[in-house]
Amino acid sequence: MKRRLVGKIVIITGAGSGIGLAATTEFLKEGAYVIGGDINLEQLYTLQGEGYLLPYQFDVRNLSDIDGLINTVISKFGRIDILINNAALVKPRKGFLDVTDDDWYSTIEINLLGYIRMARSVLPYMSNQKKGILLHIASEAALMPNLNLPDYSILKSSILTLSKVISREFGKYGIRSNVVSPAFIHTPIYDKPEGLITQLKQKYKVGCEEALQRYVEEVDIAVGRLGRPEEVTALLLFLVSESAAFITGANYLVDGGVTPFI
Ligand SMILES: NC(=O)c1ccc[n+]([C@@H]2O[C@H](COP(=O)([O-])OP(=O)(O)OC[C@H]3O[C@@H](n4cnc5c(N)ncnc54)[C@H](O)[C@@H]3O)[C@@H](O)[C@H]2O)c1
Repeated sequence: MKRRLVGKIVIITGAGSGIGLAATTEFLKEGAYVIGGDINLEQLYTLQGEGYLLPYQFDVRNLSDIDGLINTVISKFGRIDILINNAALVKPRKGFLDVTDDDWYSTIEINLLGYIRMARSVLPYMSNQKKGILLHIASEAALMPNLNLPDYSILKSSILTLSKVISREFGKYGIRSNVVSPAFIHTPIYDKPEGLITQLKQKYKVGCEEALQRYVEEVDIAVGRLGRPEEVTALLLFLVSESAAFITGANYLVDGGVTPFI
């Protein structure tokens, strides 16, 4: 089968785990040159040899790290075709009043400023090229606020506006900007020691499998299971394809039918 992204220069933030790692895997299979940026490169190294991958250690909170990544990409390839803004922080809170100024600053720094700074860094190059694609990973919480994630929900919501602003201003330069909003995707967010599965096991007092099934029923996922990272990646691949040339400023849910509104 013809590989769809041969020679494309793709930057993915948060490429070292979950959705970012799955996207890196699939984009490599399609022949893209992927610059996978993350604080932690351990998992990315396991993909080396799978295609044209450059694991790049960086922190989206650090402007000089972002500059370093962009300068490396430009000096090596001279252009940037696709940016996937994906690295984000998820921290459960007890409620709105539980979120301190420090909490707000730390979520803003990664989940909003990180996306803004990455976009601001690639847009001048894409504008000169008269071509470029930005995809921003938001969340169903952008539309259906999660009361245990007040700061996360508010900042994910702002990503919809960020993408819309970019799509409106930079459309004339051949740049498209869209949002993909996943929900309930089984990634290390669930599996890590302090992750959701541990909390669910304690809550329901059952084992891992049953705890997950009860959770799926409780949150009422229409498809009846959690999603897989590859199911998000399939949409990303479509949105960077020529078939999506008329799609910009949009937000797509990949949520197993969990959001109850139209
Ligand atoms: N998994 C879900 O159910 C779900 C649901 C809705 C939205 N999302 C969104 O999808 C995206 C990916 O989530 P995931 O589930 O794959 O998470 P994950 O925790 O598996 O992966 C996130 C990656 O981002 C990296 N990262 C975190 N902070 C960083 C920083 N400051 N600089 C550089 N890298 C950093 C982490 O090291 C990690 O590799 C996030 O934007 C998240 O909000 C996920």
